[in-house]
Amino acid sequence: MRIITVIGSGLIGRSWAMVFASGGFSVKLYDNQPGQAAKALTEIRKQLEELEEGHMLRGELTAAQQFALLSSYDDLAQALEGCFFVQECVFEQLEVKQNIFQDIEQLVGKDVILSSSTSCLVPSNVFSKVQNRSRCLVSHPVNPPYHVKLVELVPHPETVRTIMDTTHAIMTKVGQAPVCLKKEIDGFAVNRVQAAIIAESWRLVRDGIISVKDIDLVMSEGLGMRYAFIGPMETMHLNAPKGLEDYMQRYGEGIMRVLTSFGPVPDFFSEGSKSIFNEMCELIPTDQQHLAARKEKRDQLLMGLAKLKKDH
Ligand SMILES: NC(=O)c1ccc[n+]([C@@H]2O[C@H](COP(=O)([O-])OP(=O)(O)OC[C@H]3O[C@@H](n4cnc5c(N)ncnc54)[C@H](O)[C@@H]3O)[C@@H](O)[C@H]2O)c1
Ligand SMILES: *[C@@H]1O[C@H](CO)[C@@H](O)[C@H](O)[C@H]1NC(C)=O
Repeated sequence: MRIITVIGSGLIGRSWAMVFASGGFSVKLYDNQPGQAAKALTEIRKQLEELEEGHMLRGELTAAQQFALLSSYDDLAQALEGCFFVQECVFEQLEVKQNIFQDIEQLVGKDVILSSSTSCLVPSNVFSKVQNRSRCLVSHPVNPPYHVKLVELVPHPETVRTIMDTTHAIMTKVGQAPVCLKKEIDGFAVNRVQAAIIAESWRLVRDGIISVKDIDLVMSEGLGMRYAFIGPMETMHLNAPKGLEDYMQRYGEGIMRVLTSFGPVPDFFSEGSKSIFNEMCELIPTDQQHLAARKEKRDQLLMGLAKLKKDH
């Protein structure tokens, strides 16, 4: 039985544990808060049962079989014993990550793959206290990873090809959709594209061009309809009779003209932002009841979409 150790049993650690178990791996879940990992397992059991009931459980195994693959630990050395792959999911703080990887390296064999879930830190910083960085990478999931399958694999400058390939194979085996960055960059690919969308959406609302509600509809009823199945490159390729080059001949100049009119990075902390915050809060008030209901709805819709994509 191949063992994966998950370090940190918060939102993302629990999701990874479920994803790896769905692919048949034995998963050891560790947290440095005593009792926290055990509590996470109780929560996971409930979620697995609910998913099974709703016919949304991933993998070939039953909920009970998947749960039997999971174990919890308060002791790091015990948690790492026998593992071949480590997925770190602790707080998003550089020092915390650097230190935990330094500790982990002392306790595992030289071939064990060290993978971080970090969203915003680059591998050369996260792994700066690790001695053998050729086996280190970031595997950045998208929340919630159980329903959104993309994982960005980002190498450290010293990471060897075989480590990227093995991780790609593991992620594929457990049903995630891995993509490989060829080198590290701040924001990776997902958050860079997301930042570009956030920036222009913000400017359009701020400049009085469109409402908060309507800019969200631009994505959910327009661009997003396609993007759930084909990306921006294929979208262009299919939108001109002779493909991408033809598309650029027709529309490239227009796109460049629009791009030059974007203006500087918006200041999200300026006085003007307040009216944008308020407009959003009028649509969805920030009390726990309203927010929890919308999150529940989001996850339900994502499950439906995941099912649709699977059937195609
Ligand atoms: N939440 C998201 O949307 C999201 C998406 C992608 C990636 N990530 C990344 O995943 C990581 C975890 O995020 P999260 O949302 O699960 O956070 P979280 O706060 O829910 O969970 C963090 C867990 O790590 C534990 N922990 C902290 N320090 C530890 C240590 N030294 N050793 C062992 N356990 C420790 C905490 O007790 C807690 O249970 C972060 O790096 C985050 O950037 C989060
Ligand atoms: C460093 O890690 C690689 C990849 O896991 C491994 O093949 C190599 O033996 C390690 N080197 C040392 C000195 O431990």
